[in-house]
Amino acid sequence: MKITVLNQKKGPKISKHIYGHFAEHLGRCIYEGLYVGEDSTIPNVNGMRSDVVAALKNLEIPVLRWPGGCFADEYHWKDGIGPKETRKKIVNTHWGGVTENNHFGTHEFFELIEQLGCEAYVNGNVGSGTVQEMQEWVEYMTMGGESPMAALRKENGREEPWKVEFFGVGNESWGCGGNMRPEYYADLYRRYQTYVRQYGEEPIYKIACGPNIDDYRWMEELMRIAGPWMDGISLHHYALTGAWEDKGPALNFKEEHWWSLIASAQKMDELITKHSTIMDKYDPEKRVGLIVDEWGSWLAVEPGTNPGFLYQQNTIRDAMVAAVTLNIFHKHADRVKMANIAQTVNVLQSMILTEGEKMVKTPSYYVFELYKNHQEGELIETYGDKNETISYTVSKKGKELTISICNYSLTETEELAFVFDGAPQVKEAQYIYGEKMDAHNDFDQAEAVTLLPFTNYALKGSQFVLTVPAMSVTTITLEV
Ligand code: AHR
Repeated sequence: MKITVLNQKKGPKISKHIYGHFAEHLGRCIYEGLYVGEDSTIPNVNGMRSDVVAALKNLEIPVLRWPGGCFADEYHWKDGIGPKETRKKIVNTHWGGVTENNHFGTHEFFELIEQLGCEAYVNGNVGSGTVQEMQEWVEYMTMGGESPMAALRKENGREEPWKVEFFGVGNESWGCGGNMRPEYYADLYRRYQTYVRQYGEEPIYKIACGPNIDDYRWMEELMRIAGPWMDGISLHHYALTGAWEDKGPALNFKEEHWWSLIASAQKMDELITKHSTIMDKYDPEKRVGLIVDEWGSWLAVEPGTNPGFLYQQNTIRDAMVAAVTLNIFHKHADRVKMANIAQTVNVLQSMILTEGEKMVKTPSYYVFELYKNHQEGELIETYGDKNETISYTVSKKGKELTISICNYSLTETEELAFVFDGAPQVKEAQYIYGEKMDAHNDFDQAEAVTLLPFTNYALKGSQFVLTVPAMSVTTITLEV
């Protein structure tokens, strides 16, 4: 494959928020995964696992969405403030019916955000919460001066307000968030968002609950009725191997499930294209961002684990899903302003798995590491035709070009020749690959899939020729 790179051209900026993450009160994502409490023997800072925080910081994680998901529409924030011993114990009805002790609440979330050095995306409760409750939460988090909620925050030990960059008004309001019709939710959205007040210096970016997968009527109605009141609208699409009710295993899967999972991930391109066309009708200036705040592989849980905890292993196949999907987001960088892979630790397509004090980085983690240089880069080229087994992105920051290539063929190496305007120099070249299609990392073999130096390239004047192995993701940074 020969690719001419127009490295002098101007392209849309790839928002760093496309590399966002999502952490819900679900299974072992928050508890055990991110938060172990101050008294844990697992090394922590103010309760946050030091190993996990360090690993996520290395990814330059730009934004974290919390507290859900479905949990968000049952979450009453006042249960999660004040002395831990007096916090209300509730039932996490969506996720395993376990007791939620609310030890991780608003203050702990912002402690985590501060340790990660990232932005906050808080998802409010429309399904079972009141307008007043939402208004007061925003006041509690962001009011700097004198007010009842600012006083309550100070009583609980936090003098300064926090910064909330993004606020979601409900989650999956068409389903777990209230089973609403689009017309009804659109009106509710207009009402609730009115009280997401600006107390700080900068306005909060307000995100409406958008459609599930290909529910184009939901998008149409939301944009028609509520478009002018929103900054962003969400979209959820998970990659599956087949039917929703019959999720394929994460390990020991058949070859056909390699292809079906990747094809399901590739559907994201069609979904964004069609939803964007509807959005363009109401918002031709592309002011409203499409926020894909839940995406990733959803597979069968690991045998023997709580089905409500959504704990799944993560293989080189998931790395393909991540790379292919990120390339699709790049392609739509003019409309997709944020995306949040589900979910950061121990749930669905995780970056990290933990078991007691042990931690492993998944193949998906390494894709985010390989791709991090695309954050805020200018898009030069991106490609991902369903008839090929190659998907790639070229982006630019000043003189630096970053090329990421995913070869999801099970057997074939691929030679690519990039032709530049100028003679490039290689600054860094790394890759991951799978020896078998379910290659993965586990607690007894943490580096079966890991970053390796990539050397299989040659520079011939303005041509950069490389051969990438099957089942691999490669990133090269060049200076031209
Ligand atoms: O990410 C798991 C769940 O998937 C979320 O809670 C919900 O929003 C979606 O259905």
